[in-house]
Amino acid sequence: MIKINENFLKLQDSYLFSTIAKKVSEFQKENPDAKIIKLGIGDVTRPIANSIISSMENAVKEMGNSETFRGYGPEQGYEFLRNKIVEFDYQKRGVDISPDEVFISDGAKCDCGNIVDIFSINNKIAITDPVYPVYLDTNVMSGRTGNYNSETGKYDKIIYIPATAENNFVPQLPKEVPDIIYLCYPNNPTGTTLSKEELTKWVEYARENSSIILFDAAYEAFITESDVPHSIYEIEGAKEVAIECRSFSKTAGFTGLRCAYMVVPKNLVGYTENGQEISLHKLWSRRHGTKFNGVSYPIQRAAEAVYSEEGQKEIRENIKYYLENAKTIKNGLQEAGFTVFGGVNSPYVWLKVPDGITSWEFFDKLLSKANVVGTPGVGFGPSGEGYFRLTGFGTKENTAEAVERIKKIWS
Ligand code: MLT
Repeated sequence: MIKINENFLKLQDSYLFSTIAKKVSEFQKENPDAKIIKLGIGDVTRPIANSIISSMENAVKEMGNSETFRGYGPEQGYEFLRNKIVEFDYQKRGVDISPDEVFISDGAKCDCGNIVDIFSINNKIAITDPVYPVYLDTNVMSGRTGNYNSETGKYDKIIYIPATAENNFVPQLPKEVPDIIYLCYPNNPTGTTLSKEELTKWVEYARENSSIILFDAAYEAFITESDVPHSIYEIEGAKEVAIECRSFSKTAGFTGLRCAYMVVPKNLVGYTENGQEISLHKLWSRRHGTKFNGVSYPIQRAAEAVYSEEGQKEIRENIKYYLENAKTIKNGLQEAGFTVFGGVNSPYVWLKVPDGITSWEFFDKLLSKANVVGTPGVGFGPSGEGYFRLTGFGTKENTAEAVERIKKIWS
């Protein structure tokens, strides 16, 4: 008889964004004339920049020519792309990463989910709360979390580190020492950041405790303030304790193209049960080569074009556009009397829902009264209750319209 992985039964309902999509589609069915504006999932709306498209087109043509056709690519990704990543994302910021420490993939979500394969089931996990649900759910699936407690909204073996308005969204170093720490900055969902000084505390803590930090920098391109680190490797010693993932999804609009990368430094080690040091780079390389066949050649050429002069100019314009939207949301909501966070170094705006209602009640009210979709804070964890996320990734027109609708209801 076939047996299932029973850890899946410990997951809560469906994936957050699938639950929201289902609710919205039911509402639309019942209200076919409602003009719904979706500011829920962080999906981009600007088309891919011209220079990136033409590079991809050229690569597609190469695939149809017997002289330039390519089959399977190198397991870690093409060197032309890994070299550009190292030069632009790291060396230009004074960070020493080598191209063979970079693994090209089809998404940061996949990387965050897949990396857990190389770690022992016995590792203790810490997540900030609220958090991007993938970190938690993938650990539930692989059996590291224990059971869910419906009273607390928490899994019993996970260390939750609150990041709320009470602590100015600066998570405190946990007293119980975790083996694996997930950090995402600029943060999804709160849109807040950590200063260099704050991030240094985490790197030092991980070094002292032989823990590892899984650092998700998917929103790095949205940083506008100078004291905010773009990479965890800007912090001294981080190469000994951190894996970093980045994505072209939000940076260059690749949510539909799919390309990302993860940096696994060569001197990063984990330990066997009897204390033997093992290279995490070697383990990840083995895993990547076995379970993944690479991102297609045209997409990797498209990603390479992100780093061209024209590509940089074009993607910067799109990022500015989304940040303008975030500002429109932030200012509009403040005018309507809401307390609002994020939106400065991030496309995400995190607001406090009105007193006396839950974040799902706010979701329902916003959908039914304003026909605007956002994401309830509690969907990101128990400390997200009382908050709500709106994204700047919509169109300028829809964003302005959504803000006007919200203001009409709450001003
Ligand atoms: C989000 O809305 O949090 C993200 O778009 C989800 C993702 O990137 O997978």
